[in-house]
Amino acid sequence: MKIRVPATSANLGPGFDSCGIALSMYLSVEILEDTEEWEIIHSLGEDIPSDKSNLLIQTALDVAPSLTPKKLKMTSTIPLTRGLGSSSSVIVAGIELANRLGNLNLSQNKKVEIATRIEGHPDNVAPAICGDFVVACHFSEKTENSVSHVKHYFPECDIIAFIPNTELLTSESRGVLPESFSYKEAVEASAIANVMIAAVLNGNLPLAGKMMQEDRWHEKYRGKFVPHLAAIRQVCKEEAAYGCFLSGAGPTVLILAPEEKTETIMKLLHALDSRAQVEHLSIDREGVQVF
Ligand code: HSE
Repeated sequence: MKIRVPATSANLGPGFDSCGIALSMYLSVEILEDTEEWEIIHSLGEDIPSDKSNLLIQTALDVAPSLTPKKLKMTSTIPLTRGLGSSSSVIVAGIELANRLGNLNLSQNKKVEIATRIEGHPDNVAPAICGDFVVACHFSEKTENSVSHVKHYFPECDIIAFIPNTELLTSESRGVLPESFSYKEAVEASAIANVMIAAVLNGNLPLAGKMMQEDRWHEKYRGKFVPHLAAIRQVCKEEAAYGCFLSGAGPTVLILAPEEKTETIMKLLHALDSRAQVEHLSIDREGVQVF
């Protein structure tokens, strides 16, 4: 059995802690034989544990504490600590591992709820589970039915990821956000997000992209971590891309573009920083899959 989970990009500008899309980069976990102790074979780096302390197994045991230990093989094309949902993909894989090995028959809603409890916000885990475009909200005071989410088709377009060669921890990037906000600012920020979502649902990418660039919740506070964002915005403007936004907590920036613009935009992005990875991606429509 093999579990495959897509990368994700959260926020889409103003949809902070709420909106996300699933992307065509994947974490795969292959379940091998029974063992005495949990063991993960991987080549993701020395910092990633190979034993029971790995987030994948921690999550699976949180959901189903009496699982029999297995040998697992983990591979991933999702860059770590770049804002592309690598830890969410591990959490979602861990929930699916428990679901299958423990015959739990978890509903999609239940998976989203468990994953949000572990991750703290739903905007990466929900699209990793459901695929495509997901809008979700988390009621922090509720323990049952604490998450509501809606999946919808994201309009067809090219997605370019500019992935800097620098790590950024979500905790560090959240640490610069303000503690509070005026009522007036919050109303404006939320109205911008509402129009962004409505435009996505309508298939109006030019308007959606414009709203994605009008975020008021987080991007300006995170500016010091993402000095490349201003130059990418300029490229988007000159090449008439639909828009660009910080992927999750950054440092990756996603650019939405019409197909005929992609090649030129990718060349210009490469020229901005030769150490950055520039990837041409598409929307993953399915979310977590078991083969
Ligand atoms: N919404 C989250 C943030 C996503 O921007 O901090 C990253 O986990």
